[in-house]
Amino acid sequence: AAEAAGGWARTPVKERAAVLVRAADILDSHADEFGAELTREEGKTLPEGIAEVRRAAEILRFNAEEAHRPAGEMFHSPRRGERIIVARKPLGVVAAITPWNFPIAIPAWKIAPALVHGNVVVWKPASLVPLLAFRLAQALNDAGLPPGVLTLVIGPGRIGQALVEHPGVHALTFTGSTEIGTELMKTCAALRKPVQTEMGGKNAAVVLADADLDRAARAIVSGAMVSTGQKCTATSRLVVERDVEDDLLDRIDALVEALQVGDGLDPAVAIGPAASGSAQRDITRAVKHAQAEGATLRAQSALPRIGGSEDGYFVRPCVLTLPDTRAAVWREEVFGPVLASVSAVDRDHAFALANDSDFGLSGSVFTSNLGAALDAVSHFDVGVLHVNSETTGADPHVPFGGVKASGYGPKEQGRASREFFTTTTTVYLAD
Ligand code: SIN
Repeated sequence: AAEAAGGWARTPVKERAAVLVRAADILDSHADEFGAELTREEGKTLPEGIAEVRRAAEILRFNAEEAHRPAGEMFHSPRRGERIIVARKPLGVVAAITPWNFPIAIPAWKIAPALVHGNVVVWKPASLVPLLAFRLAQALNDAGLPPGVLTLVIGPGRIGQALVEHPGVHALTFTGSTEIGTELMKTCAALRKPVQTEMGGKNAAVVLADADLDRAARAIVSGAMVSTGQKCTATSRLVVERDVEDDLLDRIDALVEALQVGDGLDPAVAIGPAASGSAQRDITRAVKHAQAEGATLRAQSALPRIGGSEDGYFVRPCVLTLPDTRAAVWREEVFGPVLASVSAVDRDHAFALANDSDFGLSGSVFTSNLGAALDAVSHFDVGVLHVNSETTGADPHVPFGGVKASGYGPKEQGRASREFFTTTTTVYLAD
C-alpha cells in the first residue's frame, strides 16, 4: 500500500473515477449472483442481498462524480497581489475496518471516497463475510485498480488493532461496535491519526397522538425487524403518546405476528436468520433478560416450520413493553429484531424519553403536525432524523453518521466524506 500511494495520488482523478464506474458496472451485472451469495453468507433475504449489491454500485458511481467537483477553494487575501488557496490532498494509506451486517454497501461507502480522493486502502472486513469482501475487491481489481491501491486483509479482529498501530497507516475509518470503536479511537488519538467511527445505535421511533397509525406501524415494524434487526439504524425503541398507545401496539403486534421467518432464499420469507450462532444467542438472551427485568412480551413471530432449516440461527422478532426505561433492553444495543416500547404523557415527554440514551445515530418521528416535526429537528439528538418514515437507510449523496456514542469524527457519505478522506494545505500565493 505504501509503495502504491504516491502513484495513485498522482493518477488523474478522472482515471481514478473511471475505475469506480467500471467496478460499478461489474457489480450491477453480477447483482443477482453476488446478492444470492450475500444471502447465503450473511443471512438477509435475497431481495435485500441483491439490493445491497446494487446499492454498492450506486455508491461507487456517486463517488466517481467527485472527479467533476472542486478540489479546493480560493479566498481573497487582505494583502495586495496575493490569493489564498485551500488545496485538498489525500491522507495516504487509510485503514478501513468494516462490519458483517452490510458486507458490501458499507465497505463501498468507505473505499470509494477514499480511492477517488487519491488515498490507498488497506481493508479488513468482518471475518464473517469474506466472500462479499472478495467480490468487491475483485470488481475493483478487474476494473483496473493498480496493484497495492486496495489491499484486502482477511482474518480475526486483532488484525484491526495491528493495522491501526502500523506506522505506515495514516488514518482509520471504522464501522462496528461502540466498544471496539472506542478502543481504536484511543489508539488513533495516542498516535495522532485521524479517525472516523460509525458505531452503535439504539434508535427510537416517536409516535405522537396525531400520527397516521397504520403508516407508523408499518414503518416501525419494517425498521425494527427487516434484516433481522441487524442494522445500526434499526428501530429498537418505541415512544408512543399514551392516548394512542393501545391502537398503535395492536397494529404493530398484528404485523409482527404475520412476519415469516426462515431461509432468506425462500421468496415467502421476510426475515432471515441471525448472522451467526453467537448473534442468535445474544438476541435470545437479551429478550429473556428483559422479561426478567419486568418487560412484557406482547407479540412474537413464529419460528420457521420448514424441514431442514431447524438448525438455522433463527430468532423470533418481538415486541416488548417496558414499565420504565431502566431495563438493559432500553439502554444497550441488542442488534436483533427486538422492539422495546414505553409510553409518554405528551410531546415533550416523548422527546425526553427518545433522548434518554447514550446513542444518537438515527430516529423517527411520526406526526401530522409540522411544528412537532420541526421540534424534533431541533431537539431530537440524532445524526439522522426521519419524519414519518423508518429509522433505517442512508442515501449515498447525503451525510450519514451519529452523535454521542454512535459516531465520532467527520460524517460519512455525500460530500461530507471529503472532510475525512482529505487533508488541506492553505497556500498564500503572492504574485
Ligand atoms: C446500517 O444501519 O448499518 C447502515 C445504514 C442503513 O442502510 O440503514
